[in-house]
Amino acid sequence: MDRSLVIPMFETFVSNYKRAYLEIKEDQNKEYSGGSVATYIPPLAKANPEWFSTCFCSTDDQQSSMGDTDIKFSMQSISKVLAYAFLYDQIGGTEVHKWVGEEPSGAAFNAPVFDKLGRPHNPMVNPGAIMICALLVRHGYSLRDLISFYRRATLETISKDEDTTCIDEQLYREEKLTGHTNHALTSLMLANRAFPQYKSEEHTKEGADRALDLYFKNCSILVNTKSLARFGAMLANNGIVPSTGERLLKSSTVQAVVTVMTTCGMYNGAGKFTMELGVPAKSGVSGGLLTVVPSVGAVASFSPRINSEGNTVRGIAVIQKLSQTYNNFNL
Ligand code: DON
Repeated sequence: MDRSLVIPMFETFVSNYKRAYLEIKEDQNKEYSGGSVATYIPPLAKANPEWFSTCFCSTDDQQSSMGDTDIKFSMQSISKVLAYAFLYDQIGGTEVHKWVGEEPSGAAFNAPVFDKLGRPHNPMVNPGAIMICALLVRHGYSLRDLISFYRRATLETISKDEDTTCIDEQLYREEKLTGHTNHALTSLMLANRAFPQYKSEEHTKEGADRALDLYFKNCSILVNTKSLARFGAMLANNGIVPSTGERLLKSSTVQAVVTVMTTCGMYNGAGKFTMELGVPAKSGVSGGLLTVVPSVGAVASFSPRINSEGNTVRGIAVIQKLSQTYNNFNL
Protein backbone atom coordinates (compact mmCIF):
# COMPACT_ATOMS: atom_id res chain seq x y z
CA MET A 1 0.00 0.00 0.00
CA ASP A 2 0.96 3.64 -0.36
CA ARG A 3 3.06 4.48 2.69
CA SER A 4 1.73 8.03 2.91
CA LEU A 5 -1.68 6.60 3.82
CA VAL A 6 -0.31 5.31 7.11
CA ILE A 7 -0.27 8.80 8.65
CA PRO A 8 -3.88 10.01 8.22
CA MET A 9 -5.22 6.62 9.26
CA PHE A 10 -3.17 6.39 12.40
CA GLU A 11 -5.68 7.70 14.95
CA THR A 12 -8.42 5.42 13.70
CA PHE A 13 -5.98 2.56 13.68
CA VAL A 14 -5.02 3.23 17.30
CA SER A 15 -8.64 3.24 18.47
CA ASN A 16 -9.30 -0.08 16.70
CA TYR A 17 -6.06 -1.46 18.11
CA LYS A 18 -6.99 -0.41 21.67
CA ARG A 19 -10.43 -1.95 21.33
CA ALA A 20 -8.88 -5.24 20.14
CA TYR A 21 -6.45 -5.24 23.06
CA LEU A 22 -9.18 -4.63 25.64
CA GLU A 23 -11.53 -7.24 24.17
CA ILE A 24 -8.77 -9.83 24.48
CA LYS A 25 -7.60 -8.70 27.91
CA GLU A 26 -11.11 -8.64 29.38
CA ASP A 27 -12.12 -11.78 27.45
CA GLN A 28 -15.69 -12.12 28.71
CA ASN A 29 -16.33 -15.28 26.66
CA LYS A 30 -13.07 -16.99 27.63
CA GLU A 31 -12.11 -17.18 23.96
CA TYR A 32 -8.49 -16.24 24.55
CA SER A 33 -7.83 -17.92 27.88
CA GLY A 34 -6.33 -21.09 26.43
CA GLY A 35 -2.72 -22.20 26.25
CA SER A 36 -0.18 -22.41 29.03
CA VAL A 37 3.18 -20.98 29.96
CA ALA A 38 6.17 -22.94 28.55
CA THR A 39 7.92 -24.95 31.24
CA TYR A 40 10.44 -27.02 29.31
CA ILE A 41 13.03 -24.27 29.75
CA PRO A 42 12.81 -23.90 33.56
CA PRO A 43 13.06 -20.07 33.96
CA LEU A 44 10.24 -19.55 31.44
CA ALA A 45 7.85 -21.26 33.89
CA LYS A 46 8.18 -18.25 36.23
CA ALA A 47 6.33 -15.97 33.79
CA ASN A 48 3.01 -14.52 34.92
CA PRO A 49 0.40 -16.04 32.57
CA GLU A 50 -1.54 -12.77 32.68
CA TRP A 51 1.23 -10.54 31.29
CA PHE A 52 0.03 -9.01 28.08
CA SER A 53 1.41 -6.22 25.97
CA THR A 54 1.30 -5.15 22.38
CA CYS A 55 3.02 -2.40 20.42
CA PHE A 56 2.67 -1.14 16.87
CA CYS A 57 5.30 0.83 14.99
CA SER A 58 4.54 2.17 11.52
CA THR A 59 6.98 2.60 8.65
CA ASP A 60 6.77 6.34 9.31
CA ASP A 61 7.72 5.74 12.96
CA GLN A 62 4.36 6.31 14.63
CA GLN A 63 3.99 4.12 17.67
CA SER A 64 1.21 2.95 19.90
CA SER A 65 1.55 0.56 22.82
CA MET A 66 -0.66 -1.08 25.41
CA GLY A 67 -0.24 -3.20 28.50
CA ASP A 68 2.95 -4.38 30.18
CA THR A 69 5.20 -2.89 27.51
CA ASP A 70 8.21 -2.53 29.81
CA ILE A 71 8.35 -6.20 30.76
CA LYS A 72 11.36 -7.79 29.16
CA PHE A 73 11.14 -11.25 27.73
CA SER A 74 13.61 -13.47 25.93
CA MET A 75 13.25 -13.50 22.18
CA GLN A 76 13.42 -17.30 21.94
CA SER A 77 12.59 -18.26 18.36
CA ILE A 78 11.99 -14.67 17.26
CA SER A 79 15.78 -14.43 17.42
CA LYS A 80 15.84 -16.80 14.43
CA VAL A 81 14.65 -13.86 12.33
CA LEU A 82 17.44 -11.67 13.69
CA ALA A 83 20.17 -14.24 12.99
CA TYR A 84 18.88 -15.19 9.55
CA ALA A 85 18.43 -11.57 8.44
CA PHE A 86 21.89 -10.57 9.64
CA LEU A 87 23.65 -13.57 8.10
CA TYR A 88 21.75 -13.43 4.80
CA ASP A 89 22.65 -9.77 4.40
CA GLN A 90 26.32 -10.43 5.14
CA ILE A 91 27.01 -13.54 3.07
CA GLY A 92 24.07 -13.74 0.62
CA GLY A 93 21.29 -16.23 0.08
CA THR A 94 23.19 -18.59 -2.17
CA GLU A 95 25.74 -19.39 0.51
CA VAL A 96 23.17 -19.53 3.34
CA HIS A 97 20.88 -21.89 1.47
CA LYS A 98 23.61 -24.35 0.58
CA TRP A 99 23.29 -25.42 4.20
CA VAL A 100 19.67 -24.81 5.12
CA GLY A 101 16.50 -25.14 3.02
CA GLU A 102 13.63 -22.71 2.32
CA GLU A 103 10.63 -25.01 2.75
CA PRO A 104 8.27 -25.63 5.68
CA SER A 105 9.07 -28.80 7.59
CA GLY A 106 5.45 -29.67 8.45
CA ALA A 107 6.79 -30.74 11.85
CA ALA A 108 7.34 -29.21 15.28
CA PHE A 109 10.05 -26.58 15.71
CA ASN A 110 12.40 -29.02 17.45
CA ALA A 111 11.70 -32.14 15.36
CA PRO A 112 14.73 -34.14 14.15
CA VAL A 113 13.74 -33.88 10.49
CA PHE A 114 15.84 -32.87 7.48
CA ASP A 115 15.21 -32.35 3.77
CA LYS A 116 16.24 -34.68 0.90
CA LEU A 117 19.64 -32.99 0.73
CA GLY A 118 20.17 -33.60 4.46
CA ARG A 119 19.77 -29.91 5.30
CA PRO A 120 17.53 -28.54 8.06
CA HIS A 121 14.27 -27.58 6.35
CA ASN A 122 14.43 -23.84 6.98
CA PRO A 123 16.05 -21.21 9.25
CA MET A 124 12.98 -20.88 11.50
CA VAL A 125 13.10 -24.40 12.98
CA ASN A 126 15.67 -25.26 15.65
CA PRO A 127 18.06 -27.33 13.49
CA GLY A 128 17.95 -24.60 10.83
CA ALA A 129 18.69 -21.88 13.36
CA ILE A 130 21.57 -23.91 14.82
CA MET A 131 22.91 -24.20 11.27
CA ILE A 132 22.57 -20.41 10.83
CA CYS A 133 24.61 -20.04 14.03
CA ALA A 134 27.25 -22.44 12.65
CA LEU A 135 27.52 -20.21 9.58
CA LEU A 136 27.71 -17.08 11.73
CA VAL A 137 30.57 -18.64 13.71
CA ARG A 138 32.22 -19.86 10.50
CA HIS A 139 32.18 -16.33 9.10
CA GLY A 140 33.54 -14.77 12.29
CA TYR A 141 30.33 -13.28 13.72
CA SER A 142 29.28 -13.40 17.35
CA LEU A 143 26.37 -12.54 19.65
CA ARG A 144 27.74 -9.01 19.84
CA ASP A 145 27.14 -8.54 16.09
CA LEU A 146 23.54 -9.71 16.42
CA ILE A 147 22.88 -7.44 19.40
CA SER A 148 24.45 -4.46 17.70
CA PHE A 149 22.34 -5.14 14.60
CA TYR A 150 19.21 -5.22 16.80
CA ARG A 151 20.26 -1.98 18.50
CA ARG A 152 20.87 -0.20 15.22
CA ALA A 153 17.36 -1.19 14.13
CA THR A 154 15.63 -0.21 17.37
CA LEU A 155 17.40 2.09 19.83
CA GLU A 156 17.49 5.38 18.02
CA THR A 157 14.34 6.68 19.61
CA ILE A 158 14.73 5.46 23.18
CA SER A 159 16.92 6.69 26.00
CA LYS A 160 19.82 4.73 27.49
CA ASP A 161 17.94 3.67 30.62
CA GLU A 162 15.39 1.98 28.40
CA ASP A 163 18.15 -0.08 26.81
CA THR A 164 16.46 -3.45 26.91
CA THR A 165 18.78 -5.44 24.77
CA CYS A 166 21.09 -7.83 26.55
CA ILE A 167 20.79 -11.49 27.36
CA ASP A 168 19.15 -13.27 30.28
CA GLU A 169 22.26 -15.07 31.57
CA GLN A 170 20.42 -17.44 33.89
CA LEU A 171 18.00 -18.45 31.17
CA TYR A 172 20.89 -19.00 28.77
CA ARG A 173 22.75 -21.21 31.28
CA GLU A 174 19.69 -23.26 32.19
CA GLU A 175 18.69 -23.83 28.60
CA LYS A 176 22.25 -24.90 27.82
CA LEU A 177 22.06 -27.39 30.71
CA THR A 178 18.58 -28.72 30.04
CA GLY A 179 18.11 -28.22 26.28
CA HIS A 180 18.74 -31.87 25.52
CA THR A 181 16.74 -31.85 22.30
CA ASN A 182 18.88 -29.07 20.86
CA HIS A 183 22.04 -30.93 21.92
CA ALA A 184 20.64 -34.03 20.20
CA LEU A 185 19.77 -32.10 17.03
CA THR A 186 23.30 -30.71 16.94
CA SER A 187 24.82 -34.18 17.41
CA LEU A 188 22.58 -35.53 14.69
CA MET A 189 23.74 -32.84 12.25
CA LEU A 190 27.32 -33.54 13.26
CA ALA A 191 26.82 -37.27 12.63
CA ASN A 192 25.17 -36.51 9.26
CA ARG A 193 28.03 -34.20 8.30
CA ALA A 194 25.46 -31.49 7.72
CA PHE A 195 27.64 -28.61 8.96
CA PRO A 196 29.75 -26.69 6.42
CA GLN A 197 32.45 -28.94 5.03
CA TYR A 198 34.96 -26.37 3.93
CA LYS A 199 36.38 -25.93 7.37
CA SER A 200 37.16 -29.05 9.31
CA GLU A 201 36.39 -27.40 12.66
CA GLU A 202 32.66 -27.55 11.95
CA HIS A 203 32.92 -31.32 11.90
CA THR A 204 34.29 -31.44 15.39
CA LYS A 205 32.17 -31.52 18.51
CA GLU A 206 33.84 -28.29 19.54
CA GLY A 207 32.79 -26.49 16.36
CA ALA A 208 29.20 -27.71 16.69
CA ASP A 209 29.14 -26.72 20.37
CA ARG A 210 30.16 -23.18 19.48
CA ALA A 211 27.22 -22.97 17.07
CA LEU A 212 24.83 -24.33 19.70
CA ASP A 213 26.18 -21.95 22.33
CA LEU A 214 25.49 -18.99 20.05
CA TYR A 215 22.01 -20.41 19.39
CA PHE A 216 21.20 -20.54 23.13
CA LYS A 217 22.58 -17.03 23.70
CA ASN A 218 20.59 -15.66 20.77
CA CYS A 219 17.37 -17.17 22.17
CA SER A 220 18.10 -15.41 25.49
CA ILE A 221 18.30 -11.87 24.11
CA LEU A 222 15.94 -9.72 26.16
CA VAL A 223 13.54 -7.37 24.45
CA ASN A 224 10.23 -5.66 25.11
CA THR A 225 7.36 -5.19 22.71
CA LYS A 226 8.33 -1.56 22.00
CA SER A 227 11.78 -2.41 20.64
CA LEU A 228 10.52 -5.53 18.88
CA ALA A 229 7.89 -3.51 17.03
CA ARG A 230 10.59 -1.09 15.87
CA PHE A 231 12.70 -4.00 14.65
CA GLY A 232 9.70 -5.29 12.70
CA ALA A 233 8.99 -1.82 11.31
CA MET A 234 12.49 -1.82 9.79
CA LEU A 235 11.56 -5.07 8.00
CA ALA A 236 8.18 -3.62 6.97
CA ASN A 237 10.06 -0.60 5.64
CA ASN A 238 12.10 -2.77 3.28
CA GLY A 239 15.22 -2.74 5.45
CA ILE A 240 15.29 1.01 6.23
CA VAL A 241 15.05 2.13 9.88
CA PRO A 242 11.92 4.33 10.03
CA SER A 243 13.28 6.80 12.60
CA THR A 244 16.63 7.47 10.93
CA GLY A 245 16.29 6.51 7.29
CA GLU A 246 19.34 4.27 7.62
CA ARG A 247 19.31 1.25 5.32
CA LEU A 248 20.19 -1.76 7.48
CA LEU A 249 19.26 -4.60 5.15
CA LYS A 250 19.22 -5.04 1.39
CA SER A 251 15.79 -5.40 -0.24
CA SER A 252 16.70 -8.92 -1.31
CA THR A 253 17.40 -9.85 2.33
CA VAL A 254 14.06 -8.48 3.50
CA GLN A 255 12.29 -10.35 0.72
CA ALA A 256 13.86 -13.62 1.90
CA VAL A 257 13.17 -12.90 5.59
CA VAL A 258 9.48 -12.05 5.22
CA THR A 259 8.96 -14.99 2.87
CA VAL A 260 10.41 -17.48 5.30
CA MET A 261 8.42 -15.87 8.15
CA THR A 262 5.24 -16.33 6.11
CA THR A 263 5.86 -19.94 5.18
CA CYS A 264 7.67 -21.21 8.27
CA GLY A 265 7.44 -18.62 11.07
CA MET A 266 4.50 -20.19 12.86
CA TYR A 267 5.75 -23.76 12.38
CA ASN A 268 3.10 -26.35 11.66
CA GLY A 269 0.52 -23.62 12.34
CA ALA A 270 1.99 -21.41 9.57
CA GLY A 271 -0.43 -22.42 6.80
CA LYS A 272 -3.55 -21.78 8.89
CA PHE A 273 -2.14 -18.55 10.33
CA THR A 274 -1.24 -17.19 6.89
CA MET A 275 -4.53 -18.27 5.36
CA GLU A 276 -6.49 -16.51 8.10
CA LEU A 277 -4.27 -13.51 8.71
CA GLY A 278 -2.15 -13.11 5.61
CA VAL A 279 0.98 -11.58 7.17
CA PRO A 280 4.55 -12.70 7.91
CA ALA A 281 5.00 -13.56 11.58
CA LYS A 282 7.40 -15.20 14.00
CA SER A 283 6.64 -16.52 17.45
CA GLY A 284 8.75 -17.52 20.44
CA VAL A 285 7.94 -19.91 23.30
CA SER A 286 8.30 -17.15 25.90
CA GLY A 287 5.11 -15.72 24.39
CA GLY A 288 6.41 -13.13 21.95
CA LEU A 289 5.01 -12.62 18.49
CA LEU A 290 6.38 -10.34 15.78
CA THR A 291 4.09 -9.63 12.86
CA VAL A 292 5.27 -7.61 9.88
CA VAL A 293 2.81 -5.85 7.60
CA PRO A 294 4.97 -4.90 4.60
CA SER A 295 4.98 -1.14 3.83
CA VAL A 296 2.71 -0.44 6.82
CA GLY A 297 4.47 -1.42 10.04
CA ALA A 298 4.86 -4.14 12.62
CA VAL A 299 2.91 -5.41 15.61
CA ALA A 300 4.84 -7.00 18.48
CA SER A 301 2.85 -8.75 21.19
CA PHE A 302 3.77 -10.59 24.34
CA SER A 303 1.63 -12.95 26.38
CA PRO A 304 3.21 -16.08 27.86
CA ARG A 305 0.36 -18.53 27.35
CA ILE A 306 1.19 -20.55 24.22
CA ASN A 307 -0.74 -23.15 22.22
CA SER A 308 0.39 -26.66 21.28
CA GLU A 309 2.37 -25.32 18.31
CA GLY A 310 4.37 -23.00 20.57
CA ASN A 311 2.57 -19.80 19.48
CA THR A 312 1.15 -17.18 21.87
CA VAL A 313 -2.65 -17.41 22.11
CA ARG A 314 -3.36 -13.75 22.88
CA GLY A 315 -0.67 -12.49 20.49
CA ILE A 316 -2.39 -14.36 17.67
CA ALA A 317 -5.74 -12.95 18.79
CA VAL A 318 -4.44 -9.37 18.41
CA ILE A 319 -3.52 -10.08 14.80
CA GLN A 320 -6.81 -11.91 14.18
CA LYS A 321 -8.80 -8.90 15.35
CA LEU A 322 -6.75 -6.37 13.39
CA SER A 323 -6.91 -8.58 10.32
CA GLN A 324 -10.71 -8.77 10.58
CA THR A 325 -11.01 -5.00 10.97
CA TYR A 326 -8.62 -4.32 8.12
CA ASN A 327 -9.68 -7.07 5.75
CA ASN A 328 -6.49 -9.13 5.94
CA PHE A 329 -4.40 -5.96 6.27
CA ASN A 330 -5.42 -4.53 2.91
CA LEU A 331 -5.46 -1.17 4.68
O1 DON B 1 15.32 -23.96 21.39
C1 DON B 1 14.25 -23.84 21.97
O2 DON B 1 13.51 -24.79 22.15
C2 DON B 1 13.86 -22.46 22.46
N1 DON B 1 15.02 -21.74 22.90
C3 DON B 1 13.18 -21.67 21.38
C4 DON B 1 11.97 -22.37 20.80
C5 DON B 1 10.90 -21.45 20.35
O3 DON B 1 10.80 -20.31 20.75
C6 DON B 1 9.87 -22.03 19.46
N2 DON B 1 8.83 -21.06 19.20
N3 DON B 1 7.75 -20.85 19.21
